[in-house]
Amino acid sequence: MSFIGLDLGTSSLKAILISETQEVLAEHTVGLRVERPHDGWSEQDPQSWCEAAKEALAALAASSDCSGLKGIGLSGHMHGATFVGADDQALRPCMLWNDTRSHAEAAAMDADPQFRDISGNIVFPGFTAPKVEWVRNNEPQVFEKTTKILLPKDYLRLFLTGEYVSEMSDAAGTAWLDTGARDWSDALLSACHLSRDHMPSLVEGSEASGTLRTELAGELGLPVCVVAGGGGDNAAAAIGAGVVADGSAFLSLGTSGVLFAANDAYRPAPASAVHTFCHALPGTWHQMGVILAATDALEWLARLTGQTAAELTWDLGPVEAPGKTLFLPYLGGERTPHNDANIRGQFLHLDQATDVKAAARAVLQGVSFAFADCQEALAATGTTLTRALALGGGAKSDHWCAMLASMLNITLDIPKAGEFGAALGAARLAMMAGGGAGPDIAMQPPLARSVDPDPKLHSAMTEAHARYKRAYALLKDL
Ligand code: XUL
Repeated sequence: MSFIGLDLGTSSLKAILISETQEVLAEHTVGLRVERPHDGWSEQDPQSWCEAAKEALAALAASSDCSGLKGIGLSGHMHGATFVGADDQALRPCMLWNDTRSHAEAAAMDADPQFRDISGNIVFPGFTAPKVEWVRNNEPQVFEKTTKILLPKDYLRLFLTGEYVSEMSDAAGTAWLDTGARDWSDALLSACHLSRDHMPSLVEGSEASGTLRTELAGELGLPVCVVAGGGGDNAAAAIGAGVVADGSAFLSLGTSGVLFAANDAYRPAPASAVHTFCHALPGTWHQMGVILAATDALEWLARLTGQTAAELTWDLGPVEAPGKTLFLPYLGGERTPHNDANIRGQFLHLDQATDVKAAARAVLQGVSFAFADCQEALAATGTTLTRALALGGGAKSDHWCAMLASMLNITLDIPKAGEFGAALGAARLAMMAGGGAGPDIAMQPPLARSVDPDPKLHSAMTEAHARYKRAYALLKDL
């Protein structure tokens, strides 16, 4: 038996093929483009996801024996609004999770208390519902033709299976889910001039959502198999890393930054700007602090300096106490804890000696301070962490992990192969839906090493974090 996990990321789609003992047999990645036609906009062509999935699946089929394939699991960037017409084609580019144009619509919805009461979350501009309201206000011809609104990985599911289905973890990021009851809320849908007819049906992440279309299976060289519900990329990464038990946690350094804690009960705390979503397994939930630019901030500096992110960080040496230079990583606004779509990034206290290395250090520190803000927001809800797995591309930097462990005063566990995160989680969910799951389904990855906090560095970072918070308070209205 084998299983495929497909992770639709912001910058690439990754596919992995695993055996029933969870050994990775093959992998294939296809790059994706993000368009930013105006300040605050972030869009992707849904057709490019289908093309990328076809290329990746065909590559797996060509490189390995897939005759025993029993399931495909899906994961994807959350919150995107894909407007689907009667012919199942996308009516406009998908508005992504880091698209903040609908901040006025989000604020208006958030002022209606039923959204926080029922969904358990602030209505952030990046969430799906305010984007749909923006389209209703600004592109009424698109809104009128819309028959279904799908999250990105669920549009990919439509292409793969012909079915309109979502699952709980991703649906919780729309602002239309009754997150405690794990069902669409008729009240929230009708407040947005929508009904259940516009929504896909819902399954749990580990349940079957449909089967691969026969014609497509033939074209790709794959057998017809189950397609599992899957999960939003953070819930799927948690499944891939075995972060399921109450209190277990991960810190993800991807395009966005996420501090994620698994919960055995629904514990909403919207005022903290912490996100409270369903987990990808029945009867479980999770909380997370989300920052919009983590490795994205470093990639920005890389573009500016003509170096790669790896070149900027490989020889930074041991982590030092922060100097005076400060970086606020709010390049596209911020979610936790500020819920501020208008704030933008800042570099402060530059002097003649500020060279590229000093700027890179300040960027890593700024993102670490933003994580400390998330940790404080989680603590305000009663969730305190003592250790977390470090996942995502940025976790390959020893320097950044050491800095973060000291800033947050927690032990960071670095897996040997963190990069399979969400794709592995999606493949595990496919194993559950396809009948191949053994008792070790939620095992944690083998660790390369653990990084403990340095008490001296922790106090220096805490002082610098206080300056960072003062800088935010001074500059937020600029
Ligand atoms: C989570 C969020 C991001 C995206 C992209 O709320 O917006 O983590 O899922 O990865």
